[in-house]
Amino acid sequence: MIIKQADFICSSSKTQQCPQHKLPEYAFIGRSNVGKSSLINMLTGKKKLAKVSSTPGKTRLINHFLINNSWYLVDLPGYGYAKASKTDRSSFSKIITDYIECREEMTLLFVLIDSRLEPQKIDTEFINLLGENGVPFAIIFTKIDKTGNTKLTVNVEAHQKLLMESWEELPPIFYTSSETKAGKDDVLNYIDKINSSLI
Ligand code: GTP
Ligand code: MG
Repeated sequence: MIIKQADFICSSSKTQQCPQHKLPEYAFIGRSNVGKSSLINMLTGKKKLAKVSSTPGKTRLINHFLINNSWYLVDLPGYGYAKASKTDRSSFSKIITDYIECREEMTLLFVLIDSRLEPQKIDTEFINLLGENGVPFAIIFTKIDKTGNTKLTVNVEAHQKLLMESWEELPPIFYTSSETKAGKDDVLNYIDKINSSLI
């Protein structure tokens, strides 16, 4: 799929304020600094579409981007950031839990995981929360330009082993680098396939 047009639509501080539409919506979530905003820029080929920072906690709101006038990409705030508010249920902020529990327009959630790291408790907790809420998701291992092949294999296998403890089937898995554009076609073709199946 080729992205011809990518437009910022709005930032929302609550799920209830997000735009109402009937188009497919794909959201990006993961720990602060994992590379959500960078990936949106890489996929759309627009370097400044989503705000990026080396300091965690850059994205604070729910940001909607309209793609080719026919579907949305959504940049969400990260979790696991020290200043994020703690809820009784988990260490995920209300803005995130509300979005994943209530956003009916969401077609699929991409959960981003830093490929350099071995499994982190907070990612596992988040993925289990998706299971409890029946949220469809896929996993993207990010920053693969910074991870050697051996390390990547070891980390991915450790994640897969952990996932198989709670899930009967593994979700779709992608590998990306916003620096080298690795994985761009894989992610976009996957979205395209889902969009086509919805028509
Ligand atoms: P929050 O909005 O704070 O939750 O972070 P985020 O997940 O949106 O991360 P962001 O895209 O702002 O990137 C965080 C840092 O990682 C920035 O310094 C990026 O330049 C860097 N980064 C993101 N993706 C990649 C990648 O694929 N490769 C490399 N080498 N650096 C990356
Ligand atoms: Mg961000």
